[in-house]
Amino acid sequence: MAEHLSQSELDYPFRLLEYVHGFQLSQVIFSACELGVFDLLLGAPGPLSAQHVSQELGTSLDGTERLLDALVGIHILDVEKTGGAAVYSSTEVANLYLARGSAKSLHAMILYQAQTIYPLWSNMPDAIRKGKNQNEKTFGLPPEEIFQAIYRSEEEMLKFMGMMNSSWVLDGHDIATAFNLSGFERIVDLGGCTGALAREMAKAYPSSSVTVFDLPEVVEAAKKHFSLEDDAVAFQSGDFFSGEIPAADLFVLARIIQDWTEEKCLALLRKIYHLCKPGGGVLLVEVMLFENRRGPFMAQISSLNMLVRTAGRERPPSQYSHMLNQAGFHNVQICRTGKTYDAILATR
Ligand SMILES: C[S@@+](CC[C@H](N)C(=O)[O-])C[C@H]1O[C@@H](n2cnc3c(N)ncnc32)[C@H](O)[C@@H]1O
Repeated sequence: MAEHLSQSELDYPFRLLEYVHGFQLSQVIFSACELGVFDLLLGAPGPLSAQHVSQELGTSLDGTERLLDALVGIHILDVEKTGGAAVYSSTEVANLYLARGSAKSLHAMILYQAQTIYPLWSNMPDAIRKGKNQNEKTFGLPPEEIFQAIYRSEEEMLKFMGMMNSSWVLDGHDIATAFNLSGFERIVDLGGCTGALAREMAKAYPSSSVTVFDLPEVVEAAKKHFSLEDDAVAFQSGDFFSGEIPAADLFVLARIIQDWTEEKCLALLRKIYHLCKPGGGVLLVEVMLFENRRGPFMAQISSLNMLVRTAGRERPPSQYSHMLNQAGFHNVQICRTGKTYDAILATR
């Protein structure tokens, strides 16, 4: 049986206090990423004093010292105190995930959380009161104009794309191999953004063709800022609601259903169903709720995130199955990867 916080915390509310201060913990990581602490420590020949860090970063000594200590407190940095002087060094986790240049860097995701998501979440009570996003109040846009709000400037669009890109560094391979998709010759990733997940698909299924389909401005930016030499994926632009969708044997919809109302999702799934030949399929990739409403916490907070900024929500597998069946698809298979994102495959 699940342990209830209220019972374990009656003597002293340790976890509760950590939760209440959770935003401050996030800000410690956000600030260190924004200031370049992890990049500096990664590139340094050895541990550095707070004074050295503050000189290199152009920050106050007092503030830097407090930040470095807090990073030690959450085990992201290490400290050694010999005599009177303290020297700080990075940990393997910080080098791998927090430094900007590392192959598995989450830097872009963290900056987006810090600069875009964090201010939005201060509107959460209002979003919950009204049951809708804040696009009208914040940007003067109708609540359904999701991507006009998200892409309100080129800078915001590029930051969003960077954030989307970095998730697949962690989960891309597990999603691409959640099912054996080698029988699908033409794969189209609808709303495929930078092509990060599509590249994982191309790596896992080298004899399939993989195309990323997205809005024209996104495709242009993806080619300019995120494409690779000898890129294994092709790009095509259009609008999956109002325009033509390219033919495929498998359509991937990763983090697409989460953005829209049930009505719009069904319209899109029906459109895809009619494009599929018998045996053709659709792969949904989402962070899936448990049926018993007990988690995962990442899915529950993602659902709140969808409330503040989109017209959608997160769902448990039964709701995806129902939607897919309503659109005409059969053989719905669910794969929980054990990581953040899960996959659902259905065929016509
Ligand atoms: C939440 S992001 C998911 C991106 C990508 N699938 C991933 O998981 O990294 C939604 C994507 O859908 C794209 N999109 C939104 N509306 C679209 C439309 N009408 N037609 C094509 N793409 C669209 C956005 O540009 C964005 O890349």
